[in-house]
Amino acid sequence: MADNGKKIYVLHIVGARPNFMKAAPVMRALARYPELSQKLVHTGQHYDANMSEIFFRQLGLPAPDFNLEVGSGSHAWQTAQIMMRFEEIVLQERPNLVLVYGDVNSTVAAALVCAKLGIPVGHVEAGLRSFDRTMPEEINRLITDQIADLLFTPSQDGNDNLIGEGVAPEKIHLVGNVMIDTLVHLLPSVNGRCRQELHLEPKKFALVTLHRPSNVDDRERFAAILKTLDTISRNLTCVFPVHPRTRARLQEWDLAIPDESRLRLLEPLGYLDFLGLMQEAALVITDSGGIQEETTFLGIPCLTLRKNTERPITVGVGTNILVGEDLEHLENETQAILNGTGKTGGVPPLWDGKAGERIAEIVCEYL
Ligand code: UD1
Repeated sequence: MADNGKKIYVLHIVGARPNFMKAAPVMRALARYPELSQKLVHTGQHYDANMSEIFFRQLGLPAPDFNLEVGSGSHAWQTAQIMMRFEEIVLQERPNLVLVYGDVNSTVAAALVCAKLGIPVGHVEAGLRSFDRTMPEEINRLITDQIADLLFTPSQDGNDNLIGEGVAPEKIHLVGNVMIDTLVHLLPSVNGRCRQELHLEPKKFALVTLHRPSNVDDRERFAAILKTLDTISRNLTCVFPVHPRTRARLQEWDLAIPDESRLRLLEPLGYLDFLGLMQEAALVITDSGGIQEETTFLGIPCLTLRKNTERPITVGVGTNILVGEDLEHLENETQAILNGTGKTGGVPPLWDGKAGERIAEIVCEYL
C-alpha cells in the first residue's frame, strides 16, 4: 500500500499487435499482488478486429480501461495524437508507474508523456538494438530507453547495449523474454485445426510474414520478394497471412501472385492459429521481430528478410538466419532446410515463461 492507504497503481499502455502478447504475462503476474491495482490503456494504433480484438480474447487480456482510438497516420501525427490523448489520462489517473512495451510508436509516445510529467516509466523489452536508424522502431527504442526509469531486458546483449549508451546499471534488469511467457502459457491450447482447414501436411509448408517498410514499401523490392516466394512455392507451399500494410501495397501496385494455390494469401490470423501453423511449419520466412524469437524457442528454422536484427541472440543461439537483401540466399537456405542441412539452435537463458513474474517482483520492490 502507498502511505495514504491507497493501492499502488500501475498503468499499462499497449497499441499494436506485438504489444499485446508482451503485456499479458506482466498483467497476470502483477494481479497476484493485492497491494497493487492496475489498468490498461489501448492507444488504438492497431484497430482491426484481427489485429487487436482477437488477441485480447485469446491472451486473456482484460478489456482496456481506456481506448485512445488513435488509428493510422504519419509517424509524427500518430505519435502526437497518442501523446495528447494519453497525457489527459495520466493527469486524471496519476499512476505510480507506467509500463510500456516493445518498440512501436505507442511505446515512445507514452514514455515521453510520462517523462515530462515526472511519472516513473518501466520499459519491457528494453535494450534491443538493430543499429539501423532507418528503422522507425530503432528510434523508438533509443528514446524510450533513455527516458525510462526501469529497463527490463530479455537477454544480456540488451544490458550491454544500455550500459554502452550510458544508462545507469541500477535501472537495468535482465528478466528474460515476456513474449516467450505467452507462448509457454498458451502452447497447450494450440492445435492443428488451422493447418487442417488449409489442407496442409505438417512440415510440408512454409509460413511467411512481411510488413517492414524496407520490404513492402518499395515496389521493386516487394515484387522481387513475391517472385522468389513464387519460385520457392514450386517445391514447398507457402502460406502468407497478410498484414494490412502489406495488403495495401499489393492492392496499390496491383502486384500479381502467379499461382495462389502454391503461394496462399490469408487474412491476418489470431495468435493461436498463427502459433499452430508456426509449430508445424517446415520453416518460417519473416521480417518480424517477435517471430524470430518464437521460432528460436520452438526450434523451427527461421529465415529473416532483413540486413540486421535487434535480436542477435536468435542468430547466435537460435535457429534464425539473416538472409539480408539477397533473395538468392533465401532460396539457397530454404533448399538447405528441405535437404535436412539447415541450421539448428538452442533456447537462450531465461526464456522460460517466468519473465513476467520477475518483472512483477522488481516492480513491487521499486514501488
Ligand atoms: C507497427 C509497428 C511495428 C510492428 C507492427 C506489427 C511502429 C512504428 N511500427 O507497424 O514495429 O512490427 O506494428 O504489426 O509502431 N492498418 C490497418 N489496420 C490496423 C492497423 C494498421 O489497416 O489495425 C494499416 C493502416 O493502413 C496503417 C498501416 O496498416 O497505415 C500501418 O500501420 P502502423 O500501425 O502505422 O504500422 P505497422 O506497419 O502495423
